[in-house]
Amino acid sequence: GAALDLAGRRVVISAGGTREPLDPVRFLGNRSSGKQGVAIAEAARARGADVVLVAANLEIAEPAGCDIRHVSTALELRDAMQVAARDADVVVMAAAVADYRPAAVSQGKIKKDAGDGGLTLELVRNPDILAELGRAPHDGTLLVGFAAETEPDPERLLELARAKREAKRADLLVVNRVGWSEGFAADENRVSVIGDDGRVVTELHGSKVSVAQGILDVVASVLPAAER
Ligand code: C5P
Repeated sequence: GAALDLAGRRVVISAGGTREPLDPVRFLGNRSSGKQGVAIAEAARARGADVVLVAANLEIAEPAGCDIRHVSTALELRDAMQVAARDADVVVMAAAVADYRPAAVSQGKIKKDAGDGGLTLELVRNPDILAELGRAPHDGTLLVGFAAETEPDPERLLELARAKREAKRADLLVVNRVGWSEGFAADENRVSVIGDDGRVVTELHGSKVSVAQGILDVVASVLPAAER
């Protein structure tokens, strides 16, 4: 991409994975490291953007030059995104958000003898933050979603991604296959970017840094020309 093709653009990126507390010492979490989202934040900064990074439990170093807002749970992430998205040109939802949270958080540590040999957790749905942003008026804000799927069949993987892009009303959807060793903690990534006509705009394979550049190439190409 051109050197400063995102100059003056406000880019908001969520990265990492949410943690949903069960009690003071335990949480439900996921394997997202935050690498891909942080790589996008760093690359956007390098291309001249003003970057807000909504960081959920990053397992890697924070990037320099970004306005970093720390969150942990899905509800905190949602609040931070709603505030940051208001004047954003681009919103990238790269964070892995828990679909469910415990219905109640125990004030004390849950004891081994709490259950009858076993323990059943009651969970409630978290809001779909990207879908909420997609439904809310967001004129002039490009929405980029991610989909991490374990579907092994490439065609069905794309079908899932197309359906997800439409359901969440994202402008672009970045889909990758994840598994026990692929995706989340890895340094490499392989993704397809789905555009708003459902077609694959580009396929990217390489380091998460080069994948980030490729995603921003697409973003820069579909952003309306800057007003001067
Ligand atoms: O539905 P799924 O989790 O596969 O969707 C992934 C996309 O939706 C990602 O961009 C993720 O950040 C976002 N998401 C969200 N709120 C949720 C779940 C996912 O914004 N509760």
